[in-house]
Amino acid sequence: MSTTENRPEWLDNAVFYEIYPQSFNDTNADGIGDLNGITEKLDYIRELGCNAIWINPCFKSPFGDAGYDVEDYYTIAPRYGTNEDMIRLFSEAHKRDMHVILDLVPGHTAVTHEWFRQSMKAQRNEFTDRYVWTDSIWEEPQGMGCIRGISDRDGSCAVNFFSHQPALNYGFYKPDRDWQQPMDAPGPMATREALKDIMRFWLCAGCDGFRVDMAGSLVKHDEDGKGTIALWQDIRAFLDREFPSAAMVSEWGEPDKSLLGGFHMDFLLHFGPSHYNDLFRCPEPYFSKRGKGSAKEFISAYKENYAKTNGKGLICIPSGNHDMDRLARSLDTDEMRVAFAFLLSMPGAPFIYYGDEIGMRYVEGLTSVEGGYGRTGSRSPMQWDKGLNAGFSSARADMLYIPQDSSPDRPDAASQCADDNSLRSEVKRLIAVRMANPALRSNGSIEFISDGYPLVYSRSAEGQTIAVIINPSAESALVPDIRGKFLYIVGSAEAKENGTRIGGCSAAFVEL
Ligand code: GLC
Ligand code: CA
Repeated sequence: MSTTENRPEWLDNAVFYEIYPQSFNDTNADGIGDLNGITEKLDYIRELGCNAIWINPCFKSPFGDAGYDVEDYYTIAPRYGTNEDMIRLFSEAHKRDMHVILDLVPGHTAVTHEWFRQSMKAQRNEFTDRYVWTDSIWEEPQGMGCIRGISDRDGSCAVNFFSHQPALNYGFYKPDRDWQQPMDAPGPMATREALKDIMRFWLCAGCDGFRVDMAGSLVKHDEDGKGTIALWQDIRAFLDREFPSAAMVSEWGEPDKSLLGGFHMDFLLHFGPSHYNDLFRCPEPYFSKRGKGSAKEFISAYKENYAKTNGKGLICIPSGNHDMDRLARSLDTDEMRVAFAFLLSMPGAPFIYYGDEIGMRYVEGLTSVEGGYGRTGSRSPMQWDKGLNAGFSSARADMLYIPQDSSPDRPDAASQCADDNSLRSEVKRLIAVRMANPALRSNGSIEFISDGYPLVYSRSAEGQTIAVIINPSAESALVPDIRGKFLYIVGSAEAKENGTRIGGCSAAFVEL
């Protein structure tokens, strides 16, 4: 179980909004979003009901992977502004009772990072062991991919993701070659301390915690995650000592491991064994009106995780993110309403990807930008209004760093704010219902009652129990035995003598 009960109280009621900074709001007409642009839109986010934001990496970078290739962890990328702009963003968020988590990328850096430049040198120096190197150019680190032939140093350097992202060295759980260092060797220990320094720097500057990129990837040859868990437990002890209220959310997808490592919450991933894609992103998604999908495998995987974490679960289900297709690529507006009723009534903090609240579309046919490849279509600039560049930027349209959705009926925030029947208004009401009812929040327990069409589960906390009925299918259905006070209905629902009739493509929250 979690090694700590230290958790920031605000996290229990958090509803996050994920911001991809380059695509959110451009305030200096250079065609790319910036930090002042985020600050300017805090009221928009707060008004939606979100009280926390996660900002994708915004540090100095060559942007070969959208900033997940950090060149300098201590400096905001000039295209986004300055460190002072970031500090102002923290303080403006706090004034509105909002919290900000930054994206921490501990597994790898850019090849342009000074650590890597030093590490490539033939002569031994402070950074020689900062990355995972073999001791001969002819030996590859098995199963990891590598960078080789670009340094005077003899050896191949393991990579963690793209081939320009050299893997930082946190050691090997079970070293079986000379060049593989144990976790407690001086090199890996120094990398760990360097990571703490980075965290310390931004927490002192006013950040409220981190979303941790590829959190389970740090210690190598660590099949069961034991080494990586031990490493995070050490970071947890450091946070408990110095920053007990820092929030830690992992991109790991295995809450039994991440919570043990001291993370407060983990993300449900769209790859691996979660079956998340069965819900929204496959040829027959569960959330389609066709009613031909299945949530069964998703729920069985979810229950397994829930059991393994002593009923804590704490796995956050995002509406989408910068790595996956937009919801609107496979669901229509009414289907998305039902999907949001689900997302906003599950345990763990909900994460809404910028623009999903208005049903922004996946932009088809784009050429890759900043290592996005197929992900680029989900990263197009936010559509704020019906003005120039949809209000994103006053630069010439051809200067926007990613082209926007060019369809004449593209959704925009201003129109949807003014329309009570819009997707955004639905999402806003759903967030308000979640906030007003302890049973629906992150820590309320969950029990699944039925996993077909409709999906039925009950949530309980503080003496309150709410049955949630989710019926994406176009066919209405009778849910036997569930009767009570309707707290919220998407579409239609009606109390019957022997239960609740739920309309087609509808959802209902029933207080028992
Ligand atoms: C994570 C990020 C993704 C990035 C990768 C490498 O999965 O979400 O965008 O490309 O890590 O850092
Ligand atoms: Ca800008």
